[in-house]
Amino acid sequence: MKLLEQKILREGNVLSETVIKVDSFLNHQIDPVLMREIGAEFTDRFAGRGITKILTLESSGIAPATMTGLAMGVPVIFARKRKSLTLHDNLYTAEVHSFTKKETNEISVSKDYLSNEDTILIMDDFLANGQAVSGLMDIADQAGAKLGGVGIVIEKGFQDGGKLLRKQGIQVESLATIASLSDKQITFHKERAL
Ligand code: G4P
Ligand code: NA
Ligand code: NA
Repeated sequence: MKLLEQKILREGNVLSETVIKVDSFLNHQIDPVLMREIGAEFTDRFAGRGITKILTLESSGIAPATMTGLAMGVPVIFARKRKSLTLHDNLYTAEVHSFTKKETNEISVSKDYLSNEDTILIMDDFLANGQAVSGLMDIADQAGAKLGGVGIVIEKGFQDGGKLLRKQGIQVESLATIASLSDKQITFHKERAL
């Protein structure tokens, strides 16, 4: 997605060989116009998949997931990372280990909002090693829901998550795929021809 790649080039801050900061439009401040375009793009890419719900993880997955849910006309669920005061049992839970942050979080979704009649689109802001997506797949699985695909705003193609998911036959759509962050330079994978 050209618009997104341009935004990353203009505003992304390369912190290291493996991490890019995009706080100005995705992880802190949100660019609603860009999010709307992102929602439209995912809607095109997953058309015909019979998506009934979007499942993401708080917090940075929520904005792109919400705009996609608006465009598709389906609800959006975000898994919680912390136990909520009002959410106690009746939960699907999964463990998510972050290699980037070196911590493990338990994520949870109420059983009220997922069922075996759902076809889920899993979404997130970043795809690195795929641990968050795996945790969300685990939760969809516990609910007996079908997986319709995985939608990612920025994939780090030099980490293994995307490869592992595609190897399982899952439709993974990333709107920008970073090939390298070496020498403070952002290089993208060529966009597939549409
Ligand atoms: P994984 O799920 O693919 O294995 O990813 P990983 O554990 O590495 O990611 C942990 C957190 O770091 C996630 O955010 C993820 O979105 C974020 N992240 C990973 N790589 C990058 C990067 O290069 N740049 C930025 N800006 N973020 C990255 P989180 O802890 O869930 O936080 P939140 O922002 O969703 O609240
Ligand atoms: Na995230
Ligand atoms: Na994040």
